[in-house]
This record gives sequence, C-alpha cells and structure tokens, in this order.
Amino acid sequence: MANDASAAVSEPRSVPSEPNPTRSAKGQPVTAQPAQSPAKQVKRRRVPRWEVVQTLLGRFEDPRYLEVGVSKGTTFHQISAASKVAVDPVFKFDWETERRRRSADTEYYQVTSDVYFGAIVDDDQQFDVIFLDGLHTFEQTLRDFTNALTHLAPRGVIVIDDVNPPTYHASLPDPSRYQRLRKHVKDDRRAWMGDVYKLVWFIDTFYQSMSYATVADNHGQAVVWRERRTSVVDRSTTEIGDLSFESFVLGADVLQRRPFAEIVADMSPHIGTVAS
Ligand SMILES: C[S@@+](CC[C@H](N)C(=O)[O-])C[C@H]1O[C@@H](n2cnc3c(N)ncnc32)[C@H](O)[C@@H]1O
Repeated sequence: MANDASAAVSEPRSVPSEPNPTRSAKGQPVTAQPAQSPAKQVKRRRVPRWEVVQTLLGRFEDPRYLEVGVSKGTTFHQISAASKVAVDPVFKFDWETERRRRSADTEYYQVTSDVYFGAIVDDDQQFDVIFLDGLHTFEQTLRDFTNALTHLAPRGVIVIDDVNPPTYHASLPDPSRYQRLRKHVKDDRRAWMGDVYKLVWFIDTFYQSMSYATVADNHGQAVVWRERRTSVVDRSTTEIGDLSFESFVLGADVLQRRPFAEIVADMSPHIGTVAS
C-alpha cells in the first residue's frame, strides 16, 4: 500500500545527489516558486523521487515497472517490483554484470527510448508504473509519453521527472546553453530540467482523458493517470512549443502542485489493483 507522504517534518534528500546536470542541489539565486511569508510556510518532509515511484508501485499486486533514463541506477536499483525494465543509451554502471547478478525479472536495455519502444518492447507488454526521466526536451518526453501510454496498464500511472525548473537556465532545452549560463551567474547547483514542463501544458490541453498533478514536496514530478476531465483549456501546439520561462512562471498553476499524499488520495479510485 501507499506510504504516508504527509509527515510534516523536514529532512534531507535520501537519494544522494549525483554529478549529473539534471539533479537539483541547494541554494537557488532565482526561483520560479512564489515567495511565501514565514507564517504561511508549511514544513513538509521532502519526498524523494524513488519514494514517489515506490509508493505508486505499492498500489499494484505484482507491479511491473519501466524506467526510461536510468543513469547510475540511483532510483532503479532502490525500487522493488515484480518485474523491472531499465532503458538508457548510456548506463553509468556495469549493466552487463548487474544483469547477470539480478533475476530474469530485471531487464536492461542500453538503447534510446525510441529504439526500445520502436523495436524491443513486445506489442502486448504492459507496465503499471512508468517513470520518464530520459532526455529532458519537450519533443523527446512527449514522444516518450505517447509511447508509454501504449504500454500503460489500464489503471497504471506515468511519472514525469523535472517538470518544475527552478531557474531560467534550468529550463533551457540545450544543455550546453544551460551550462554556460549557469556558470555565468555562478549558480553552483546542477539542476538541468530542460523544457519538459511544456509536456504538462500539452497533457492539460490534449489529453483530456488523463488527469495529473505535480508533487509539491520535491523538485517536481508530474504524476499522470487515466481519469477524464470535464473541461480543458484551449491552446495551440505552437503556443505550447513556444511557451517561455516567463509564461511558465506566470502560469505555474497549470502544474497543479500538491502534496504527494493528497495526490495519492485523489488518484486512488483510478489506479492500482482492484481488490477482489
Ligand atoms: C536524469 S538521468 C536519469 C536518472 C535516474 N532516473 C534516477 O532517478 O537516478 C537521465 C538519463 O537519461 C538518459 N537518456 C538520454 N537520452 C535518452 C534517451 N533518448 N532515451 C533514454 N534515456 C536517455 C541519459 O543517458 C541519462 O542517464
């Protein structure tokens, strides 16, 4: 069952930060979050990314897990599931040794997500939880999302990482531009998130059959499940593709940031194994 993510105590991240440009760290000179007066600040425990995934997997009997973008396996190797599939064009660990060491229920594919979805995954393969954390551009995550939907179990969940860039430079889809600007403004955090946030706007307008919310207790993971919405905001695909960081900050309500425990409670009737 789901872990209780609502405990109101502050604690450091339990996933160690990595020398990896997509990871958040401390000290933000420019922030996309609205400032709160001290009286309004609610100290919530930070929910690490793996815990979001594991909590959702806990809703399924014999859960099947797919992670796109695995890097060192910081999340993947912490996750417990009946079956697990890892996809990354460049694993940052000895995946062949790992594959031999682990059971046949854990699979590793050192390929891009396009190759995995296009040529490797079986047509009828389904996953209960799919974690999208690969290439952090809008176009690639949109393609990953549509491919993931094809293989999502009827009551499954998709988690999209890094939809809430904390700075303008973190939101740039080009990692070299991000690095240049980050160094220029002397931001010592490594928090490249790219323009994945546009995918949330896209889902909001073009996937009326899906509901979503963004975890407010961490760096920003969007959680998406099948539940139709009665209305949508009309936007053009061009408008979404051209969405600026300024428009993102001003329109951040679209993310629907909420405490993870609240999101889990809302999605519960629509996800997981139905008790017999
Ligand atoms: C942020 S890291 C993943 C971190 C991991 N999910 C975790 O929680 O520890 C992003 C990874 O995406 C991988 N990646 C880049 N392009 C990709 C693609 N087209 N398909 C799948 N993975 C990709 C990179 O090699 C990198 O290892």
